[in-house]
Amino acid sequence: MTAAATARANVNLALVKYWGKRDAALNLPATGSISLTLDGLSVEASVAFGGGEADRIEIDGAEAAGDEALRVARFLDLVRAEAGRRERALVTTRSTVPRGVGLASSAAAFAALALAASRAAGIVLDPPALSALARRGSGSAARSIFGGFVEWRRGERPDGRDSVAEPLAPPDFWDVRVVVAVTSSAPKAVSSRAGMERAATSPFYPAWVAGAEADLAEARAAIRARDLDALGLVAEHSALEMHAVGLAARPPLVYWRAATVGCLERVWQLRAEGTPAFAIDAGPQVKVLCAPADAGPVAEALRAVPGVERVLTCAPGGGAELAA
Ligand code: DP6
Repeated sequence: MTAAATARANVNLALVKYWGKRDAALNLPATGSISLTLDGLSVEASVAFGGGEADRIEIDGAEAAGDEALRVARFLDLVRAEAGRRERALVTTRSTVPRGVGLASSAAAFAALALAASRAAGIVLDPPALSALARRGSGSAARSIFGGFVEWRRGERPDGRDSVAEPLAPPDFWDVRVVVAVTSSAPKAVSSRAGMERAATSPFYPAWVAGAEADLAEARAAIRARDLDALGLVAEHSALEMHAVGLAARPPLVYWRAATVGCLERVWQLRAEGTPAFAIDAGPQVKVLCAPADAGPVAEALRAVPGVERVLTCAPGGGAELAA
């Protein structure tokens, strides 16, 4: 048995969304995306290789089975291939992301797993290679390797080696808040993976892909200038356009609930009254980007929306790290 390696990574919120693949096997995106890594919502993964007949995977204290176990085992196969090893692995992951907050813990999980598993297998990957590895587990995990504002480049190569994330600005570059309104603790009825397949059937999908470069340029410039209005407006647009693609798919894909729309309306009302707050939801939960001083009032306003179960507030967070 190799010594266990343990790593931790935070979830991230996409400001310009990844919603479609150009290669499902390599998990290559149709477009680039930009995100903010969030502090305090993380997954810790420990990995050791050696012994046993099959991988043993424990997620939050329970033995993983079915598709979930298979997804992690396939990911470990990539690490084994890269490191030239054959031993089975013992994996445990523990999440601090409350269930159903609608912030993909798979992004944090595969970022932490990429770091922990590669180290346990005896290889030291540089950040771009780690990001490419994490991407194979879950696309959004490519971004959770880094802290702060992050861009995942679409890349051009068919082998995907240039489809990696890179930091745009560290967490302390710009202090903003993300207020999360939880409207449903139930897991998403349609996973992101299945949702993206369905989105590709929408007549609006080509327009979504064609518009991505302009959204990315707008978001990059807004981050550089620390312009909350500009970033909020493009992020809100990207989220709503993602839903518009789904609404027009066959069968349609609607992630919203009544409370989701209630939160959107409340955020727009706050904005009309002079509070710069922007709703960036991938449904059914709503995440609101705002200034630190406005986070309290925004959280209070969302708590009062019928159907909102709980509200939490996050600051920018750091990238994936090995645990001491
Ligand atoms: C709406 O990264 O979970 O959060 O690559 O199939 O694992 P897979 O999908 P995933 O999708 C995230 C979708 C999103 C937008 C985003 O994070 O950019």
